[in-house]
Amino acid sequence: MFDEIKFNTIDRLPNYVFAQINEIKLRERRAGRDIIDFSMGNPDGDTPKHIVDKLVESAQKSKTSGYSASKGIYKLRLAITDWYKRKYGVHLDPETEAVATMGSKEGYVHMVQAITNPGDVAVVPDPAYPIHTHAIIIAGGNVVKMPFSWNEKYELEVEQFFNDLNKAIRESMPKPKFVVVNFPHNPTTVTVDQSFYDRLVALAKKERFYIISDIAYADITFDGYQTPSILATPGAKDVAVESYTLSKSYTMAGWRVGFFVGNPKLIGALQKIKSWFDYGMYTPIQVAATVALNGPQDCIDEVIQKYQKRRDVLLESFANAGWKIDKPQSTMFVWAKLPPQAKHLGSLEFTKQLLTKAEVAVSPGIGFGSGGEGYVRIALIENEKRIRQAARNIKKYLKDLENEAR
Ligand SMILES: Cc1ncc(COP(=O)(O)O)c(C=O)c1O
Repeated sequence: MFDEIKFNTIDRLPNYVFAQINEIKLRERRAGRDIIDFSMGNPDGDTPKHIVDKLVESAQKSKTSGYSASKGIYKLRLAITDWYKRKYGVHLDPETEAVATMGSKEGYVHMVQAITNPGDVAVVPDPAYPIHTHAIIIAGGNVVKMPFSWNEKYELEVEQFFNDLNKAIRESMPKPKFVVVNFPHNPTTVTVDQSFYDRLVALAKKERFYIISDIAYADITFDGYQTPSILATPGAKDVAVESYTLSKSYTMAGWRVGFFVGNPKLIGALQKIKSWFDYGMYTPIQVAATVALNGPQDCIDEVIQKYQKRRDVLLESFANAGWKIDKPQSTMFVWAKLPPQAKHLGSLEFTKQLLTKAEVAVSPGIGFGSGGEGYVRIALIENEKRIRQAARNIKKYLKDLENEAR
């Protein structure tokens, strides 16, 4: 019925490539096969006890069950700005320059919705965490996708990035209203240093665009690398906002807590739109999030060690299986070029074959944009024993591929 009635926004959203993989995964599992699953960025493990205890304590108090503040309770916003002061030496006003969000994904979608007029253009590097692109489409804007590349340590090729960004700005009509950056990057794990942000902020001021920076993986770094914040660049607050999430560092993905900070005009827009959409997170979650940010941080070291160990086991065992992958310095992912024997398959077909022939699930690079073709993303969410089992399965599969090619 009503076939002539269209939902333009929904029609502009592509079908999720990952849905195809999930469907096969489900089918294989129903058939009784034990799939080793590296496909989702969903942290395993438990939230640290002191955070859970605070949630329980707060939930048992009276007057905590009502609607909360949509921009976050003051104590949480203060904990957020204190966190920035401690970690990055950045001073922020908890009233006008910080907003707590229901995870950083919700914050991002609403930030984009708040600042995008129909037909506005935004630049997003490709490949990208899918919502970075699609929130703009949902908001009625247009996305200019920009390629980027990296060296063998997954550090951004900065000169090329700025050449391509300048080209994107020159060729875009209207001029971009904002540029989205996400370093350490999902899915590629690519990192930058502070001087990258110094250049980006200077360019934003010259070309008159805003910057949205997503540092979801700020804490998950290895081998001495430390994530910079764009807001530590002098004058960045004039043009930039940044988001962070408690999902990864504190193993709180299901709690849905994150935040945005920075430019007061953009933060004000997000606060305002959120006041129309929601009544804030459940207060005990906000109280527990305050404790997470203010409390002992050794739980983060444990998370880092867990991912680092898995990364090392994965790189070593996959190399022994005939799949050599460069070593990332950050995130909970490994971004792996397809092994030479499988290059001709492309990332989607390779992912399907890994699932059905090696019982290993990964994410095809093409799902993150055309710039992701030729790669797969492997999330470090299985334990070391299962990583080694995956390597054994993959070794056999790659041998069979080679034999087929003969
Ligand atoms: C780059 C990046 N940003 C944001 C998020 C969303 O995190 P959350 O909504 O849990 O805060 C993710 C989740 O995987 C991510 O990879």
